[in-house]
Amino acid sequence: MPLTIEVCLTPKLINQHVLQGKIAIVVDIFRASSCIITALSENSAAIYPVRTVDECLKLGSQGMLTAGERGGIKIEGFDLGNSPFDYLGKVSGKEIAISTTNGTIALDKSKSADQVIIGSFLNITATLEYLIDQNLPVVIHCAGWRGVPNIEDTLYAGALGHQLNDHGYLAINDTAKMAIDLYHQNMNSLLQTALKSDHAKRLRKFGINKDLDFCLQVNKYQNLNGKLKGSKIVKI
Ligand code: MLT
Repeated sequence: MPLTIEVCLTPKLINQHVLQGKIAIVVDIFRASSCIITALSENSAAIYPVRTVDECLKLGSQGMLTAGERGGIKIEGFDLGNSPFDYLGKVSGKEIAISTTNGTIALDKSKSADQVIIGSFLNITATLEYLIDQNLPVVIHCAGWRGVPNIEDTLYAGALGHQLNDHGYLAINDTAKMAIDLYHQNMNSLLQTALKSDHAKRLRKFGINKDLDFCLQVNKYQNLNGKLKGSKIVKI
């Protein structure tokens, strides 16, 4: 029996998936999961994803860096926003509490999975290798935007699904097949395709352009994954 691939395009639908016995890959390309992987590449000690600003501030009062955004804009009073550039050279050895509009919700709703790891284009091959090594069915859980699917997370799901297909995994829901088809049609123009998304347009309106290019750097980071262990994400 081949291992299976499911894709869920928004946390609103994750309850339609059984996560027990599977690995959930949580993806929020613009920008939460890209930031988390960047922070781990910068040797952050751990990242604590929380749902609310107050939870973040409470961890901040215990000495953690506070990070995150609402609607794409850095939360006032936080140490870091949600640009990967906020993490470069600034978080080595540090614990970070993060809260974002969609990504931390998707993480919270994935906790019933046997394992939860972080998906981004920045480390997609490292994730593929880890999944193959773990030999479990996968659910790619897209953060989307406020309950609706988005292009960039779906494109990532298709890219990972395509590579898993090549290793004998079977896409078993239409969403996975649609995501893989989206990737097949756009595999040679990933950045251009992702830039069509609503959130890319929203971020560009805020003058946030360089983040978009950064988040679409395929395999910028080798041999690096992020895994949820209890309440924190650590490098594996
Ligand atoms: C999200 O949670 O959707 C992202 O973090 C939003 C962003 O970083 O702009």
